[in-house]
Amino acid sequence: MTPEPRAPLEVTACAIVVAAGSGTRMGTSARKAFIPLAGVPMVLHTVRAVSRADTIAGIVVVVGEADVGAARSLLPRNKFPKVSAVVAGGVERQDSVYAGLRHSEDVDLVVIHDGARPLVSPSILDAVVRAASKSGAASAGVPVRETVKEVKGDFARGTVDRDRLWVAHTPQAFRSKLLRDAHEQARATGFRASDDAALVERQGHAVQMVEDSPANFKITVPDDLALAEALVQGRDAPRIRHGIGIDAHRLVMGRPLILGGVHLPFQLGLQGHSDADVLTHAVMDALLGAAGLGDIGQHFPEDPKYKDADSVGLLRVVVGKVRGAGWRVVNVDAVVLADAPRLAPYVEAMRGRLAEALELDPSWVNVKASTMEGMGAVGRGEGIVVHAVATLQKT
Ligand code: CTP
Ligand code: MG
Repeated sequence: MTPEPRAPLEVTACAIVVAAGSGTRMGTSARKAFIPLAGVPMVLHTVRAVSRADTIAGIVVVVGEADVGAARSLLPRNKFPKVSAVVAGGVERQDSVYAGLRHSEDVDLVVIHDGARPLVSPSILDAVVRAASKSGAASAGVPVRETVKEVKGDFARGTVDRDRLWVAHTPQAFRSKLLRDAHEQARATGFRASDDAALVERQGHAVQMVEDSPANFKITVPDDLALAEALVQGRDAPRIRHGIGIDAHRLVMGRPLILGGVHLPFQLGLQGHSDADVLTHAVMDALLGAAGLGDIGQHFPEDPKYKDADSVGLLRVVVGKVRGAGWRVVNVDAVVLADAPRLAPYVEAMRGRLAEALELDPSWVNVKASTMEGMGAVGRGEGIVVHAVATLQKT
């Protein structure tokens, strides 16, 4: 009997989130870690994202001495079970990391992350930790894509070869012993650097670079906060929207009866500027409504070019506009209120034509027929009314 293959041991690390800076460049009196982003203190976004990374087993949060109490209440044990300690930092970032290291558990790997990078993704944290488990040291970063100038005063004096340049981000992960030794060495020699990778490089150990999203930028000046705000709003906005469409047309002599792009044999037809396909019109309004794009009157005004227009063709135009606004059609449902003619024999054909224009499988397009039992204008056969709903999903 062959033994069961053993599952590979999952790599885990202890995270240190450094958030003890005073945020001088933000120009506000509030401490940067507590500045609200989408209504929530910045450091809370950061700790949430770090908690979501599979490789992170424990988190030490480092804040200013005066903020330890506030941070502990912000990060209660029951909501943040991975947070093992909230401790006070030091004068410079390097001192704060050192304070975090002294309180972190004795694990093989540590990952350092700036509290001021609240848009970090759990996947980059995992990628950096896994890289460091093999190479010993890894940093998130972004290759420089713009031209870099060396400037003195207001004048460029030279252009730097960007091919060899990356912008370093955090997270940065290291074998714990390597980082601890690098910090001790730096303290002993008075070496100061703005990230941990620099201390490890100084030990002669190369740091593996892992490409990150530019969205994981550090919030340093007020403009950064405005950009982060927009990104968080976009990320957290609901991804599903519904719309309703209602349309009514009179039944008159001498006009064809077209519903959902299908020509029905009947002695009366619908009056209107276009082909008066009341079902397709209601579906278009439902789609435009869900996308927040107004109504068909705005998009197709009463213009001679739309005289007797094929409404299914207009529906295709609407689908294009909805898609252009970043939405995908999920489904459409409609109720046609008509006492005559009997619609049941044509419902499948209508679904098929609408589904084709919507680029959906017909099972996601539903058409129902109902009578008004002789009540009201529809009941008297004066016209046809349609109610439709549509659901869209953000692409
Ligand atoms: N940091 C820290 N302890 C310090 C200084 C900085 O923990 N003594 C942290 C910051 O809170 C931040 C990260 O290191 O999450 C990067 O530092 P930076 O962006 O420079 O933040 P601040 O030092 O707060 O800002 P400033 O330099 O504008 O004062
Ligand atoms: Mg600073």
